Amino acid sequence: MKELFILAVVTVFTLVTYYLVEPFAHSQMHKHIESEGFVYKDLPALTKKGDAARGKELVMGAGACAGCHGIEVEGMPAPMDPVTAAQSYGVNPPDLSNAGAIFDPKFLAALIKNPAHALMVEHKFDPNKGQMHPMTSFYGAGGDIDQEIADMVAYLQSIAVKKEELTPAMAFETACGRCHAVHYPYVVDGKAHPAWTQIGEKPTFKHKQDELAFETKVLDYQDALKKYMGTLPPDLSMYIRSRGEHHIKTFIENPQNYLKGTAMPRVGVTAEAADKVIEHLENVGDSKRHERAELGPKVLIYMLIFALFAILWKKEVWKDLH
Ligand code: HEC
Ligand code: HEC
Repeated sequence: MKELFILAVVTVFTLVTYYLVEPFAHSQMHKHIESEGFVYKDLPALTKKGDAARGKELVMGAGACAGCHGIEVEGMPAPMDPVTAAQSYGVNPPDLSNAGAIFDPKFLAALIKNPAHALMVEHKFDPNKGQMHPMTSFYGAGGDIDQEIADMVAYLQSIAVKKEELTPAMAFETACGRCHAVHYPYVVDGKAHPAWTQIGEKPTFKHKQDELAFETKVLDYQDALKKYMGTLPPDLSMYIRSRGEHHIKTFIENPQNYLKGTAMPRVGVTAEAADKVIEHLENVGDSKRHERAELGPKVLIYMLIFALFAILWKKEVWKDLH
């Protein structure tokens, strides 16, 4: 009886101390931010139904999208190599092949109309002060501008891979890869993938000279990017471990919630694409997570069986002594 009482006292004090130190400290040090489900409430809903064929003409013509972006699925490579593009725009405009599957349609429409607003970087780009966003706004091709934008969005959706075929790496490369490197090579389903740099995957080189030439290009790109962003975006290889899934997900939904005034744009991905990005970061930074999850229940079962034997053994030993 006395032992039970002591145990209860110790348990209560341990729990109180634990609460004061751990979750309490946590709640004071980190703001808790809930996801809004990637619905982008602040952006107007799409009211027009788009026509993909008309959208294609606009993307290639009056919209000027193809003047800055590659569209590989249409056999259109990027108009500039990544380093030249970064020296012109600050960053390499992403290939648009799968933009329709990665970015929210409402967000895409808002982006085409006013990039700095959709990307939440108006504190950096104020046209009244002559600070223009490097992606030009679309001012219309002479018709109903909202219809024209809906057409372009419909076209981007029509050429993109189906949601089910969007791989984690594709989502990451289009939405994050122009700014963030991930310098860890990684393995998915037994297939090895090279490290990611902001100018693309790092190939394996036979000659040291070629490798150095590639690395010089990465450095040139990073110089331009640093000038554009004010800081070099961090390598994300290990962020899934240091920050965790919840933090990264709510951060990409609205970086301003965490870092007021940050240069990182709101990228406008759909909820599904955000999950793919997280999955990619887990594939790189936490590849053993599935094995670990499988191990948990096994350890518990082992402990249960062990406890059972321990009780039986204790009974056996004490049987004659009572
Ligand atoms: C003058 C060059 C230019 C033109 C024209 C242009 N873009 Fe861009 N676009 C950019 C740049 C630069 C970025 C990257 C901006 C950044 O990351 O700060 C970008 C980013 C994007 C993104 C990624 C946004 C995100 O959230 O990550 C999409 C999608 C996009 N553009 C679509 C379009 C479409 C559609 C058109 C045509 C209506 C278009 N762009 C026209 C330069 C351009
Ligand atoms: C146009 C460039 C750009 C794009 C695109 C971009 N980021 Fe960033 N990111 C930045 C910059 C710049 C910082 C540093 C922010 C700061 O210190 O203010 C940053 C910081 C971060 C951080 C660190 C936040 C922290 O808590 O310290 C994470 C995580 C991150 N980005 C994830 C992503 C993911 C995931 C994507 C794609 C969905 C992405 N970023 C797309 C520029 C970018």
